[in-house]
Amino acid sequence: MRSSWFNKLSLIFGHRPPLSWLILCLISILALIAVLGSSSSSTFDSASYTPVSFIYTNYRRIKEQAAVDYLELRSVSLGASRQRELSLCGKERENYVPCYNVSANLLAGFKEGEEFDRHCEISREGERCLVRPPKDYKIPLRWPIGRDVIWSGNVKITKDQFLSSGSMTKRLMLLEENQIAFHSEDGLIFDGVKDYSRQLAEMIGLGSDTEFPQAGVHTILDVNCGFGSFGAHLVSLKVMAVCIAAYEASGSQVQLSLERGLPAMIGNFITRQLPYPSLSYDMVHCAQCGVIWDEKDGMLLIEVDRVLKPGGYFVLTSPANRLHGSSLSTKKRTMLTSMEELTRQLCWTLLAQQDETFVWQKTADIDCYTSRKHAAVPLCKEGNDAQLYYQPLVSCISGASSKRWIPIQNRSSGSELNSAEIEVHGVQPDDFYEDLQFWRSALKNYWSLLTPLIFSDHPKRPGDEDPLPPFNMVRNVMDMNANYGGLNAAFLEEEKAAWVMNVVPARAPKTLSLILERGFAGVLHDWCEPFPSYPRTYDMLHANGLLSYLSSERCSMMDLFLEMDRILRPEGWAVLSDKVGAIKMARAFATQIRWEARVIDLQNGSDQRLLVCQKPFVRK
Ligand SMILES: *[C@@H]1O[C@H](CO)[C@@H](O)[C@H](O)[C@H]1NC(C)=O
Ligand SMILES: *[C@@H]1O[C@H](CO)[C@@H](O)[C@H](O)[C@H]1NC(C)=O
Ligand SMILES: *[C@@H]1O[C@H](CO)[C@@H](O)[C@H](O)[C@H]1NC(C)=O
Repeated sequence: MRSSWFNKLSLIFGHRPPLSWLILCLISILALIAVLGSSSSSTFDSASYTPVSFIYTNYRRIKEQAAVDYLELRSVSLGASRQRELSLCGKERENYVPCYNVSANLLAGFKEGEEFDRHCEISREGERCLVRPPKDYKIPLRWPIGRDVIWSGNVKITKDQFLSSGSMTKRLMLLEENQIAFHSEDGLIFDGVKDYSRQLAEMIGLGSDTEFPQAGVHTILDVNCGFGSFGAHLVSLKVMAVCIAAYEASGSQVQLSLERGLPAMIGNFITRQLPYPSLSYDMVHCAQCGVIWDEKDGMLLIEVDRVLKPGGYFVLTSPANRLHGSSLSTKKRTMLTSMEELTRQLCWTLLAQQDETFVWQKTADIDCYTSRKHAAVPLCKEGNDAQLYYQPLVSCISGASSKRWIPIQNRSSGSELNSAEIEVHGVQPDDFYEDLQFWRSALKNYWSLLTPLIFSDHPKRPGDEDPLPPFNMVRNVMDMNANYGGLNAAFLEEEKAAWVMNVVPARAPKTLSLILERGFAGVLHDWCEPFPSYPRTYDMLHANGLLSYLSSERCSMMDLFLEMDRILRPEGWAVLSDKVGAIKMARAFATQIRWEARVIDLQNGSDQRLLVCQKPFVRK
């Protein structure tokens, strides 16, 4: 009986029925609230013994709450607010990424590559509309199948780009007319990525690439990653590779990687620093990445040095030359000569060279800097662990005075950080462990909250409990206010098939270095600006306390919700947790952007509320 009620409810949320329907449903809902109310007291008593049934009690509460919400929502939406629903953008904005309008940047006078850089100040356009999915958009296949096969209608790629993509990291093929296939583990499609990965491991002195984590390599920044095949292979080795690439209007490496469920964001080496603190990554990887490293007086390489941890590796590969059997071009030869000089200045040593792959190692010894003969690249004068946000590139060495100067080889080998490793980031170990504890139970609750939504259209027998959503229901998760990355840790512990983009707001407490140290993906971001990603690239957004935090900043909440709608895929979820006032406001915005939204009272006497939302699949 409960389930049929719920089916009706979802029907109502999904479509807009005539008034007579509404009245009928209101009556049945009221009747059901009475039924549920009488049955919930007995289940509650027996439920409090085990965590599982605690979750089930939650469902019930949520469903009751949903009924109440529904009444409120109707009374609001029958009034004026329905007109305020935003309309869809035109077709030309299907793949819209704000801040990266190249023609507008050119008009504004940016040139010599700077037109491809992030310029949020240029493309602030007035029109507020919802980015629509392409005509043939389909919900992505679940992990791990979705890693190897994507819907071609979901990404923008031209025929020419498709045909020219034959390199190691850009290998793809058309399966049927509507699917693109990448590397597959069963070796059906040849790809050299596994051999390449093994070769890299040998070059840094390991027996096999499964030893990367033991050697301190947990996080890799993969510059212009192709379509992410190296990162896809590293997933199985429990190494986190984050792909960055410049904005590309079509054939985007970032869009395709994210579509495959691989961590990626728009980011580039042009004029600004990357939105990561210094000493962030264990390896920076560039395979045919197209960056001319000795350009701009070496500032690009100095930026690599900034984000590399002590003892970390810089890998540079261009197998195209090897494949074509030609010797080094003159241009490349001069680049290598000046690289030699630059790397000496940066205290990097060339560990190994094989074919066209070079591996340098950043010094683990801070004294190296003072012992350089001609210190053409000085050490930066910096405050304590300055956290920078798209600052201009610098021509000095960062991080040398940081408390976080710890060689990657010295990290404890366990997957969890020890107290000393936590304290280095300015965080109290007790706070850290408490946070983890909190997120363990919070994630269980969130997971149960999604169930009624996803199973609402499945037939159920009376008395059936809702099953939990499958472990791989979401893959790309963004935690918009990640703090220590506790939600990410809980996802891993629960063995969900998700990875999390941990976003630390640009002016929030400085926890990003700790998040990256845990081996998670993360980035600094100012939520008053658009996020550097393509539309529909996340399955789930989560924000704890972000709304009340942002209320003290001067940015438009409507723009924030539009941005969330842009990066969330159709039928994706958003879970917002905040104070009651912020959640009420959020629900009004959610209605305007056409999301289904339900307020959940946590009922522990606090003024915290959850807003669980689902983005509908709107086509017109
Ligand atoms: C990009 O900028 C140009 C020139 O200002 C403008 O005409 C165009 O509409 C913009 N494109 C998008 C997608 O906003
Ligand atoms: C790293 O470990 C080595 C060898 O165990 C030790 O000599 C060195 O002092 C350590 N360095 C740091 C910065 O902890
Ligand atoms: C109630 O739960 C919220 C979120 O789950 C938590 O932040 C808050 O501290 C709790 N309050 C009390 C009084 O337990």
